[in-house]
Amino acid sequence: MLGNFEYCNPTKLYFGKKSILKLETELAKYGKKVLLVYGGGSIKKNGIYDEVVGILKKCGKEVAEVGGVMPNPTYEKLLEGAKAAREFGADLILAVGGGSVCDYCKGVSVSAHCKEDVWEKYYERFEEPDCRIIPVGCVLTMVGTGSEMNGGSVITNTAKKMKVGMVFGEEVFPKFAILDPEYTFTLPKYQMVSGIFDIMSHIMEQYFSGDDDNTSDYIMEGLMRSLIHSSRIAVKDPRDYEARSNIMWTATWALNTLVAMGKETDWEVHMIGQAISAHTDATHGMTLAAVSLPYYRTVMPYGIKKFARFAVNVWGVDGKGKTDSETAQEGLRVMEKWMREIGLVLNAGELGVTSDKLGAIADSTLITQGGYKVLTREDVIKILGESLVG
Ligand code: NZQ
Ligand code: ZN
Repeated sequence: MLGNFEYCNPTKLYFGKKSILKLETELAKYGKKVLLVYGGGSIKKNGIYDEVVGILKKCGKEVAEVGGVMPNPTYEKLLEGAKAAREFGADLILAVGGGSVCDYCKGVSVSAHCKEDVWEKYYERFEEPDCRIIPVGCVLTMVGTGSEMNGGSVITNTAKKMKVGMVFGEEVFPKFAILDPEYTFTLPKYQMVSGIFDIMSHIMEQYFSGDDDNTSDYIMEGLMRSLIHSSRIAVKDPRDYEARSNIMWTATWALNTLVAMGKETDWEVHMIGQAISAHTDATHGMTLAAVSLPYYRTVMPYGIKKFARFAVNVWGVDGKGKTDSETAQEGLRVMEKWMREIGLVLNAGELGVTSDKLGAIADSTLITQGGYKVLTREDVIKILGESLVG
């Protein structure tokens, strides 16, 4: 049964070819000073930077820049951006990049005018901001996180070896997001498939929790089937617009809060993946890929009906004449085949995890309560160990 909920998603989306032209409409709603934020330089190579700056100039904006936002953005970098936004007096923060840039900008938007210790307030106590929030707009160039339409802001504290995701309320969601699938054509294959698995993982994290028959589960099955179908096309032809646009749209729906409404969610794979990144700086989606199979094999006996349903409805396994356990196991085998086919990392060793780090990674792993089994520290170490032979 669906639980009670309130739902609002305030982000306005502009989707499709040349949707960047809508930036002008949005810029008109904000003051003169725009803080333009981007990553390590991909937007300068592929021309997106010139396009955005051209529109900002045309609209008469005064622009300051913060570049060099790294994948897995750090707390130190966040403080640098907050200072820049405050001193410049930014009216709007424009994120041009992937989840890292978008998450970072949300962090900056609530930190620029915050008088408290930002890490403790937002990333340890998970409090909502009570200071002025600078609005954020997003031009998305990498698909996966759903950050373009949610309140998530994942920041790494390198000193504490913690990578923590704060989920802010609606005031911090991007005010608008521009999604042009063609902007993702220049992504390296490693990033593209990492993003594809990130999407898959977001859906699974919300699907594998509770045994209720609710609309969200049906929506998620449809999203996963679309993703699997389109991923196979995109790995063969990364410039297939239909496949890339379907993947982009699925990513947004996978984590724009809708499918989580009224149901429990898990998020343990993300907690282990984030702990891996905190220790290795590995690419987000690949950390999830490396631990998902050992994790789901561990929890499957505690949610066997849902895993059997997943096998049949998502992977097309024929359940006739099989026990739920046999069907469920076959589902994970078919999923593993797909993961290998599209080129995901299944062995955490490839991400810099070594057997002597397992205890420390387990110590950095937050334990969630919503999955089919609440893990122990030993379970986390076992899952990581299994990934090393994956
Ligand atoms: O930095 P640049 O030079 O721009 O290069 C980036 C980066 O190296 C490159 N890239 C992006 N767009 C490109 C491109 N290269 C060529 N052409 C383009 N069009 O791709 C690399 C990865 O970018 P990044 O933004 O780090 O990837 P992603 O979108 O996967 O974001 C990952 C971050 O988001 C967090 C992750 O933990 C991680 O820190 N997440 C945010 C979530 C949220 N807000 O809800 C949820 C997710 O589960 C996730 O945790
Ligand atoms: Zn993710």
